[in-house]
Amino acid sequence: MQERLQQLKQAALSRLSEVTDMQQLQELRVKYLGKKGELTEILRGMGSLSAEERPVVGQLVNEVRSALESAIADKQASLEQAALEARLASEALDVTLPGRPLPAGTMHPLARIIEQTEDIFIGLGFEVAEGPEVETDLFNFEMLNLPKNHPARDMQDSFYITEEILLRTQTSPVQARTMLDKGGKTPIKIICPGKVYRRDDDDATHSHQFMQIEGLVVDKGVRMSDLKGTLLTFARQMFGENQQIRLRPSFFPFTEPSVEVDIQCIFCGGKGCRTCKQTGWIEILGAGMVHPRVLEMGGYDPKEVSGFAFGMGVERIAMLKYGIEDIRHFYTNDVRFLRQFNRV
Ligand code: DAH
Repeated sequence: MQERLQQLKQAALSRLSEVTDMQQLQELRVKYLGKKGELTEILRGMGSLSAEERPVVGQLVNEVRSALESAIADKQASLEQAALEARLASEALDVTLPGRPLPAGTMHPLARIIEQTEDIFIGLGFEVAEGPEVETDLFNFEMLNLPKNHPARDMQDSFYITEEILLRTQTSPVQARTMLDKGGKTPIKIICPGKVYRRDDDDATHSHQFMQIEGLVVDKGVRMSDLKGTLLTFARQMFGENQQIRLRPSFFPFTEPSVEVDIQCIFCGGKGCRTCKQTGWIEILGAGMVHPRVLEMGGYDPKEVSGFAFGMGVERIAMLKYGIEDIRHFYTNDVRFLRQFNRV
């Protein structure tokens, strides 16, 4: 029996050395140490032994059992260690590899101009308003002192959807909408950026869709000098602190008097060049004192309050500021063009 035990131990140990995974190990454990295992079977046979032999064999059985248990435990530990190492190797991450930069978009130049303009006017106490691009004839024209058949409607060839609904040709309808919203309260100080649409043929300086920024101030005692000071502040913050502006008489149905506003040519500094047609000045926007009829239709008494308004083309400002020669660049989305306007 002692011999059998020694053989069993040898056989178990030699099989153990061939075990390569947890399942084989478990099978081996059951085979030798399990309830129906070989060692248990030998134990059962101990009844036939003599009283002297029994303790000797019993001790040997225990020795064999603990030798096998510890060999199996060692094997298990080394299998687990190997599995861990294999996993670490397969999931290894080289943290020293340089990162792959994600391409970052750039801000569209028109969005930049709008954001800068908003910042300038917010700094002057203005709020930013919005209005619909699909507009009614009433707001786009009539409320701005442009009744049907008024010849000045020809200045803005329109996309009509029905007789009464059109794509707005200007951001000026937001003036009328804001006045009605305010319900006669003062002050009003808003700017409104947005898209506008006109039936123009596209070329280097015209686009059937472009952007404007409208401005409106209504309060007691608003004067032309307030308009001039506001626009001078804008021109200096947008184009440089030495900028000058020049007001020329003009006509818009919704303002009286009306002006066109020039800045000193930013290409020649006022000396005269091709861009400014040798005048030294470049037009940037239209403006004026809000027409009494427009105030009245908006629910304000022109004897009590006055106002000024202005409207500028965003593309034009951007073209001047960045020296862009063709308005179509803004809409063709050529990334080589857009990438020049990065975020810093
Ligand atoms: N809406 C005019 C246009 O599209 C621009 C303009 C001129 C707006 C004078 C105004 C203004 O508010 O007072 O040409």
